[in-house]
Amino acid sequence: MSHKIGRNEPCWCRSGKKYKTCHQAFDEKIERIREAGHIVPDHSMIKNADQIAGIKKSAQVNIAALDYVAEHIRAGMTTQEIDEMVYEKTTSMGGFPATLNYQGFPKSACTSLNHEVCHGIPSEYVVLKDGDIINVDISTKLNGYFSDSSRMFCIGEVSPEKKRLVKVARECIDVGLKEVKPWGFLGDMGQAIHDHAFANGYTVVREIGGHGVGVDFHEEPWVSYNSKRGTEMLMAPGMIFTIEPMINMGRVEIYIDDANGWTVYTEDGKPSAQWEVQVLVTDTGYEIISY
Ligand code: MF3
Ligand code: CO
Repeated sequence: MSHKIGRNEPCWCRSGKKYKTCHQAFDEKIERIREAGHIVPDHSMIKNADQIAGIKKSAQVNIAALDYVAEHIRAGMTTQEIDEMVYEKTTSMGGFPATLNYQGFPKSACTSLNHEVCHGIPSEYVVLKDGDIINVDISTKLNGYFSDSSRMFCIGEVSPEKKRLVKVARECIDVGLKEVKPWGFLGDMGQAIHDHAFANGYTVVREIGGHGVGVDFHEEPWVSYNSKRGTEMLMAPGMIFTIEPMINMGRVEIYIDDANGWTVYTEDGKPSAQWEVQVLVTDTGYEIISY
């Protein structure tokens, strides 16, 4: 972070405004918090108005793809068909699925069923059946800007146990969002989510978390839900990241599929649920970008 910028020089955020009327007070505040021993964001994590507008446009495609899946998902459908719906909807709106060919990931969405925690690969051999719970995780690239969110779907008649897991996982997003505000810490959000899951008898996956997103698919910071209030990175206006806790009905341990290198499962074979929201830290609180 550079503090050598003159008061009357253009701000580093490329707003076109003078530094003194744009991010100077912001930088000084962050510096004081850093000096107090906290982890603080650097300039690359602070989006300007143009970037936020571009990311929101990307998110409109992402949301439309999720809505499209929500309308059509049903028992008897394969996860490959979900993938095709995502590809069609996303590209018809001028976007591209960010997961497709991402580090070798072969599909346009992640579809994670029951005891799959995340990164399930759509397949023509996986047929949705009555009683399944599934996470559909979609990410979009549009004009160079990224969006990322996911939802759970209950297929047909789902057991009360699984329904409660899905409901509590969603509540975890709500309790987390309440903690998103400028000059708070990611740990405030992480602890709130962990406490809510724990109070309901569930565990929260440790190894996989949320992430900054917008100008790249995965940016700093990494977002944990096993963190403590007052710790982890400071939240500052202009940051965009995901909240996407994976809530396990049983034990916390997970493993990755040996054969495909992607799919994450619960070690004990019990179900896992996840919702993912992409959120912007504003001057007064937060704004949901994609959900
Ligand atoms: N949407 C997922 C995330 O939250 C994508 C993971 S990368 C993939 O970051 F290749 F597995 F899709
Ligand atoms: Co994500």
